[in-house]
Amino acid sequence: MTGLKLRIGGLLYRISSREGFHVTISRLIEGFVIVLLVGAVATLVYMTGGLKFVYSHAMYLPIVLAGFRFGMLGGVLTGIMGGLALGPYMPLLVSPYEPQETHAWLYRMAFFALIGLVVGGISLIKSLQVDFLGNVLQEVSATFARTLRGFAKAIEAKDHYTIGHSERVACNAAILGMRLDMDDQDLQQLYWSGLLHDLGKLGVPEHILHKPGKLDPEELENVRQHSGIGDEILSRISPLFYSISDGVRHHHEKWDGTGYPDGLQEDQIPFYARVLAVCDVFDALTSERTYRGPLAPKEAANIIRKGAGTHMDPEVVEQFLMAYEARELVWTETKRPCNEPSEFDYGFIWDYYTNRYRDGGGAGWMRG
Ligand SMILES: [Fe+2]
Repeated sequence: MTGLKLRIGGLLYRISSREGFHVTISRLIEGFVIVLLVGAVATLVYMTGGLKFVYSHAMYLPIVLAGFRFGMLGGVLTGIMGGLALGPYMPLLVSPYEPQETHAWLYRMAFFALIGLVVGGISLIKSLQVDFLGNVLQEVSATFARTLRGFAKAIEAKDHYTIGHSERVACNAAILGMRLDMDDQDLQQLYWSGLLHDLGKLGVPEHILHKPGKLDPEELENVRQHSGIGDEILSRISPLFYSISDGVRHHHEKWDGTGYPDGLQEDQIPFYARVLAVCDVFDALTSERTYRGPLAPKEAANIIRKGAGTHMDPEVVEQFLMAYEARELVWTETKRPCNEPSEFDYGFIWDYYTNRYRDGGGAGWMRG
């Protein structure tokens, strides 16, 4: 009795929650279709002259369907239902009337129930395997996320001037990505690309990174190699990181083709890199450097406005300026925490953050 109460309670709970409601309704519809199929097969058998003819085998269809959709219990119950539908009232021959023997329909019903049980069992094993693989995939994706975040920490440990820089670039890039209507997967990749855009600085000597004043040509060349080094590190880890590493490689390309490392121009520059370029420049200008103090955000935004169509993609700059005016962006002074995806490439985690952002009318997760 308690079990029945729990089941009814569970059913009511699922019906009352919106998602549960849809699931319950779709399960009810599926169950109804299976019952209809059993009835249809019984009618077909009767209309075609009785059990002596081949159509009774069509009863396997609803039994197999029920086994897959409702597991062992559903399979067995449908087997029994099918057995009864072709049971005592179904003649062997309709005309001239010839009834079937009792043991015949009982054996048939047991056989149908057994088929339902086996199919339900196979379906159960399959769903356990899918669950297991899902857990493994989730763990792998979380490990990827922790690894990438570890890289970001390593950059900061080496170049303390970049503390917070990568994260702010990643956050602002994701905000611009949303404005540019990127889908969730692209937003995630763009976020990671922003977080790791300076990964290659791990390969640049510290005395060059920390040198106050101007760099000589050789040192400059050394620093410029960081985008290629970052690309190489990431793309060697996994093909899953190719689009992230693409953004990393090209974040210093310029719209007019005067950037590095490949001198790409306009549409040749990967889109992630065009977004990152704007966010990188904005954050670099508003941050303190060895050779100058931070610029006011308004001043930095003006410099970016002037760079549209020469150094930066005009479309991205336009969205950047709108996001800046709407106070959606982060910079050193805002000190807003940036929430971050805890897994790699998992849409539902990202959905959580982006929905918070969108529901907040532009003042959600990025703003803390
Ligand atoms: Fe860079």
